[in-house]
Amino acid sequence: MRVSLIWLRGLAAVSLGIAFGCALAADGDWPRHGRDDGEQRFSPLTGINRENVGQVGLAWQTLLDSTRGLQATPIVIDGVMYVTSTWSRVFALDARTGAVLWTYDPQVPKVWAKKGCCDVVNRGVAVADGRVFVGTYDGRLVALKAKDGSVIWDVNTVDRSKPYTITGAPRVAGDRVVIGNGGADFGARGYFSAYDVATGEMQWRFYTVPASAAGPFEHPELEMAAKTWSPDSRWEMGGGGTVWDSMAWDPELNLLYVGTGNGSPWPSFQRSPGGGDNLFLSSILAINPDTGRLVWHYQTTPGDSWDYTATQHIVLADIEWQGKSRKVLFQAPKNGFFYVIDRQTGELLAAEKYVRTTWATHVDLETGRPVPSPTGDYSQGARVVMPATLGGHNWHPMSYSPQTGLVYIPAQDAATHFSPTQFNVLLGGTVTGRVEEMVPDDSIGRALLLAWDPHARQVRWSVPHSTFSNAGVLSTAGGLVVQGDAEGYISFHDAWTGERLHRIATGTGIIAPPISYELDGEQYIALLAGWGGALFTHAEPQVAARRFRNEGRAIALKLGGGRVPMPEGEPSVKPRPGGDRLRVLNEQQARGRDVYTAHCGICHSWYGHNGLLPDLRRSVPAMIDQLEAIVLLGALEPLGMPSFAGQLTPAQVDDLKEYLRAVRIE
Ligand code: HEC
Repeated sequence: MRVSLIWLRGLAAVSLGIAFGCALAADGDWPRHGRDDGEQRFSPLTGINRENVGQVGLAWQTLLDSTRGLQATPIVIDGVMYVTSTWSRVFALDARTGAVLWTYDPQVPKVWAKKGCCDVVNRGVAVADGRVFVGTYDGRLVALKAKDGSVIWDVNTVDRSKPYTITGAPRVAGDRVVIGNGGADFGARGYFSAYDVATGEMQWRFYTVPASAAGPFEHPELEMAAKTWSPDSRWEMGGGGTVWDSMAWDPELNLLYVGTGNGSPWPSFQRSPGGGDNLFLSSILAINPDTGRLVWHYQTTPGDSWDYTATQHIVLADIEWQGKSRKVLFQAPKNGFFYVIDRQTGELLAAEKYVRTTWATHVDLETGRPVPSPTGDYSQGARVVMPATLGGHNWHPMSYSPQTGLVYIPAQDAATHFSPTQFNVLLGGTVTGRVEEMVPDDSIGRALLLAWDPHARQVRWSVPHSTFSNAGVLSTAGGLVVQGDAEGYISFHDAWTGERLHRIATGTGIIAPPISYELDGEQYIALLAGWGGALFTHAEPQVAARRFRNEGRAIALKLGGGRVPMPEGEPSVKPRPGGDRLRVLNEQQARGRDVYTAHCGICHSWYGHNGLLPDLRRSVPAMIDQLEAIVLLGALEPLGMPSFAGQLTPAQVDDLKEYLRAVRIE
């Protein structure tokens, strides 16, 4: 009777889990980004379980007016679902039927698209006190009335002359709503700020890196941080450390946990010559949300050179650890190590590799520091390093089940080729080398769903995906682990064994995480389908958008539901035969190619790849003739094609035309 024993153990664990920070979470709602403030992404609902999951089908679907990446976690409170679509637009839906109750469009200027690396995505809203909070791509934080979507306040949170974007979900901690931003890859200085829920007034701001060796030190922690940077660091590049995704809140300890990003520029030998840890890059910060002061910090990758952000999902859990009950946090940041940290004190309890990882041999638990390996050092010559810059795990949320004690990680196993002179494709809009030389195709590895046992410090089971693309994860008290994929399937696994129990085809690639909620005694599982994000220029052959229109929609499932309709219309990705790099280009065409690499490839795909946006090397001659109007006058801005007025000259557009004509594919 193995099963019933596990069920009993599971139930006991579930009640423990519910004891954590869930006071305001009625079982049926999904009121916070990660359901509870500790962001476990575990649903206590059991209506859908291992026995009946085969009967799960479509309850309803609602189109979200998008053919690009959707990453939001839906929030469900009192029968209303709040989601975000592309361009930071908010949709309020009836959670029983999917009917649209209201929408809000923050009117993000389309030129802002040039300030981000990874598609015009948004990871969702926060809801509290009858208000809906959304961070917009152009750096604003907006409060809406939950009832009708009308604007209560709208504040700018960034220096609008700098490359800041917001894609992350705000978090509410008490009377404050906290938001960070992205931009480290483009040369930004990281920070996050707290705003008064009622008025939108800023309460405090915490910078994650110093402005320079000599200050100004906006708060005392920066003086300490400055000692870990060489005085002649490349301060003009902003330092990085942007806070673009993860936060979790422990109301009992009154600590807000925040994950920080990579350095700018990437290589530490360029950024801060002569060494140093470069605090607070790639760190977990524990902050008192009342004051904005630092209580403790743990740096996962001192002196980061590999884009190893610690902005990945932070999960809070109360567990038995070596015979003692402890309040811990879990993180699987990009650098390939799974961390267990005492969240009260910051003490490191465990750090073990969860994917192949070559930049460090191990983490020394005495010192808490990683032991670097020579393989990771590319200051003297090119190196292939694991994990890749996209990380062993990226923003796609993981899930912790108190029932199984396992953490389900949407993991990535891959390498990046680094060289001393070629790095940060995006920084300042300049490119130091041909992209296909910097990121060889074989650096795209594989994605897998893996079940990590934090006690045994090993993988209990894993399931590979057919593509490198990944999606967020949900676990439930029904003994299930749920995940979508780039092929457009939603899969249900046995939480103990990984066995796939059921699979639903949607025809739309999925990267967003599922949630679960209950209404009128019926359990639903819901997610957003819509492929894109960081890989939106890299659609591998299996990606659904190569066969179907990339139809962005909210999909809700229930027992006894029907089939999910396949999208209608043309496929969003039209693969090209490839091979244009073999052509001999004259001088003007070669200049055009360099403009293309520096300014266009980030959205329209670089060499040999296939993406969501039109392949310009398939443009008909009439389209190429219109290039001045499109590139310099913003003729296609309504479609999201930013103007390059003031950035490119008419002569450069001529070069581009010559290049596009030369490499045109019929
Ligand atoms: C930030 C992303 C982004 C960048 C960078 C970008 N574009 Fe675009 N481009 C778009 C989007 C979005 C569209 C509209 C796609 C659609 O049809 O929905 C578009 C459409 C176009 C089209 C029309 C293609 C067609 O077949 O309909 C042309 C031509 C074009 N872009 C040229 C350029 C050139 C040249 C550059 C570089 C100087 C560039 N774009 C850089 C996002 C971008």
